[in-house]
Amino acid sequence: MSTNGYFRIRLTTLIANKPLPFNVYILLDQKVILYIKEGDTISKEKIQSLHLKDSGESFLLALADKEKYQHYIRDLMNSDLLPNSEKATLLKESSIALLEDLFDNPDVKKALDESRPIISNLIDFINSAPNEMQNLITLSGHDFYTYNHSFDVSIYSLGLGQAIGLGKTELEELGLSSLYHDLGKRLVPLEILCKKGALDDNEWVQMRMHPQFGLKILNEHGNISDAIKAACYEHHESWTGGGYPQGISKQEIHPFARIVALTDTYDAMTTQRSYNTPMKPADALNLMNGNLAQRYDPDMLKAMYSVLFKMKKNAA
Ligand SMILES: [Fe+2]
Ligand SMILES: [Fe+2]
Repeated sequence: MSTNGYFRIRLTTLIANKPLPFNVYILLDQKVILYIKEGDTISKEKIQSLHLKDSGESFLLALADKEKYQHYIRDLMNSDLLPNSEKATLLKESSIALLEDLFDNPDVKKALDESRPIISNLIDFINSAPNEMQNLITLSGHDFYTYNHSFDVSIYSLGLGQAIGLGKTELEELGLSSLYHDLGKRLVPLEILCKKGALDDNEWVQMRMHPQFGLKILNEHGNISDAIKAACYEHHESWTGGGYPQGISKQEIHPFARIVALTDTYDAMTTQRSYNTPMKPADALNLMNGNLAQRYDPDMLKAMYSVLFKMKKNAA
């Protein structure tokens, strides 16, 4: 999805009236053109007007400047220049930009390694500004199938992981596992992933293959943790059995997969995707706690409740 040699950023992740440490390019008629030269500044008004015009999605940085961009964002996050609510947006939009080009990367090991510091920054932020978690959720359905969904599942999972008392290293692993839980969808045909309306039986069979596909992809790369593999392979298992692909139950299911089972369903139910109308958060939770409850680890379900309650309270 990214233009070769470049990655997309949102202009709103740049701070106004401060010299930029990198060139910013724009995509015009399929051509990459220098837009702001390194060392130049951009005004707040210009950022806002351009952002409104095209959602800032055609602005690019050279991949070679990725580290400079990461430093730039880190400095802003550590500074007192922005209130926490704006930091949340900045972190969300820059993380999405950095992850976009990793998300379809055929070198999964590299994608996981490079995603780790992004997850780590998200954890630090959630720890330092717990009330801002809601602002990290993209709630956007504009992506093809998995991109924003995976990011949001990752944020909810980090919240849940924190609620059950996981430490930083475990949280990092959980964040990564959640981010790549639907990796196997790479091997599901796009016309099935993007189909508007219900899937037929045969299409469902293919869609339900994605946990196996995910494990297969992960197994092709060395040195990937069991937790990441389990979240990918077991996130459609059900607490009392009857899920897929293995039909395992309870403690047989990896704890991270039990977490993703919850956060995945919650996000799918509450976000507008191609195939559904979003449910209200309270309705989704009631359904998960009611008719669907046997699917989930009761302790995790309780923790999910507390996370969402906290988020809702802060959003109100
Ligand atoms: Fe899935
Ligand atoms: Fe998913």
